Amino acid sequence: MIFKTLFFDTVASTNDTAKEYPVGTIIIATTQTAGRGRMGRSWHSVPGNLFMSAVVPDFGPQTPLLSFVAAVAVAKALDTFHPTLKWPNDVLIGGAKVCGILLEKSDNGVIVGIGLNVAAPPQAADLLYPVTALNGALTAHEAAQRIEKELGILIDGVIRNGFAPVLASWKKYAPGPGEKMTVRLPDKTITGIFDSLDSAGRLCLRLSDGRIEKIAAGDVFFNKGK
Ligand code: BTN
Repeated sequence: MIFKTLFFDTVASTNDTAKEYPVGTIIIATTQTAGRGRMGRSWHSVPGNLFMSAVVPDFGPQTPLLSFVAAVAVAKALDTFHPTLKWPNDVLIGGAKVCGILLEKSDNGVIVGIGLNVAAPPQAADLLYPVTALNGALTAHEAAQRIEKELGILIDGVIRNGFAPVLASWKKYAPGPGEKMTVRLPDKTITGIFDSLDSAGRLCLRLSDGRIEKIAAGDVFFNKGK
């Protein structure tokens, strides 16, 4: 799919601006005054970083799988930096978060919001994970062009072949089966061994009693002192 990109100076959130545009639009802003993150958190919008939102088609019940499409698009765009992926859609470099993705519905389609630390990582006391940045190795504009290209190719692939190939690509960037991890859910914290990703994109964790817990939403922490 070919996107039309619109550039803004300051917006509240590129996801909000994108909600006013049709499928096939990308919104990029220089700064955000009210950037949003997953789970109701805010996104610290450091000047020079990339804030972009793409309006893509709604895939009905499979729409949540667009998380993996977006994460793989960013990972491919950053291939030279050897990225890894953390379920469901954080992009890490050297084990630290460089990019976050927030999916939201609009009247026209689905908004894929991408925040990539190209210039500098946010400095804040309330960060959940270690964070990193590309430290200027790419400009926000260059990064956006790469992501736009990969996202367009992947969305075309999903329209033709469904989500299975994307989930397979996601697994190549993700920790291998056997990795110990902790998942923080709204009501409890679970520790287990990464088993697989099911076809609905749920994280399947093997618990100490051998049961498999399937998790649809949560924050994952790797148990390696990170
Ligand atoms: C996360 O919590 O990891 C998701 C962060 C998503 C941030 C991006 S920045 C561009 C777009 N606009 C927003 O308000 N949020 C997303």
